[in-house]
Amino acid sequence: MDGHERLISTPTGDSAYRRRRDEIAALATAYVRGDVIPEVEYTDAEHAVWRLVAERLRERHRSHAAPEFLEAAEQLGVGVEEIPQLQGVADRLNGLTGFRLQPAAGVVPFHRFCGSLADGYFHSTQYIRDGVTPFYSAEPDVLHEVIGHGSALADSRFANLYRLAGEAVRRVETEAAVQFISKVFWFTIECGLLDAPDGPRAYGASIVSSYGELDQFRSAEIRRLTIADMVGTGYDITRYQETLYSARSLAHLEDVAGGFWESCDDASIDRLLEAAK
Ligand SMILES: [Fe+2]
Repeated sequence: MDGHERLISTPTGDSAYRRRRDEIAALATAYVRGDVIPEVEYTDAEHAVWRLVAERLRERHRSHAAPEFLEAAEQLGVGVEEIPQLQGVADRLNGLTGFRLQPAAGVVPFHRFCGSLADGYFHSTQYIRDGVTPFYSAEPDVLHEVIGHGSALADSRFANLYRLAGEAVRRVETEAAVQFISKVFWFTIECGLLDAPDGPRAYGASIVSSYGELDQFRSAEIRRLTIADMVGTGYDITRYQETLYSARSLAHLEDVAGGFWESCDDASIDRLLEAAK
């Protein structure tokens, strides 16, 4: 399973929406790394979807997003009024943490996605979710990528965790090891929480880009972040998460997840999986 996928519902199948999405995705298909990222001429309706969702997210972030995430988002400085052009976001990120963005036509296979992370590139879609269903995205869209991942990548400590996950995937050879690294990625970079005085707060890109899940995540079973515990924990990317992991602090997240990605190999992951049997 691709840890970067975010399926909350099946695609609408609306042909006009699909055609528009394919048109924007075609820009990414033609892109060669190093080129200037092509501008998308977004319609007023597409900007309106961004505005609707981004305003609601900003409001919920104040009470439900981790302070470290909020600071990073402020550094990135993306507004709520209109969809930003990806090249502008990429330039800003590159100045802040050295990370770069590469346009993506859709979900990128986890192995390739992580290989790019190891090189400091994040694959980002440019199309926006269907305006008929602004409350969820059938697949990663520009809202998820920029507000969720882009914000985190504006902080050097979060950005380093992305790099370490990428390097770990590049290091291992077995499919089982890639899948387990993907699971740790899911429970941290996509759905991770950090303790705060008023309760756990989100930094994971999937949660901070879903205002429905921002309202719900505190109802999940929230466990202390532990890699070994994840072995027996399932997840379903099509639903709000039933189990989440909270780190005591960003330093604790770096120790646990960063430490795991930094040192794991096929043999150590195999031992972890065997121990759980
Ligand atoms: Fe994602």
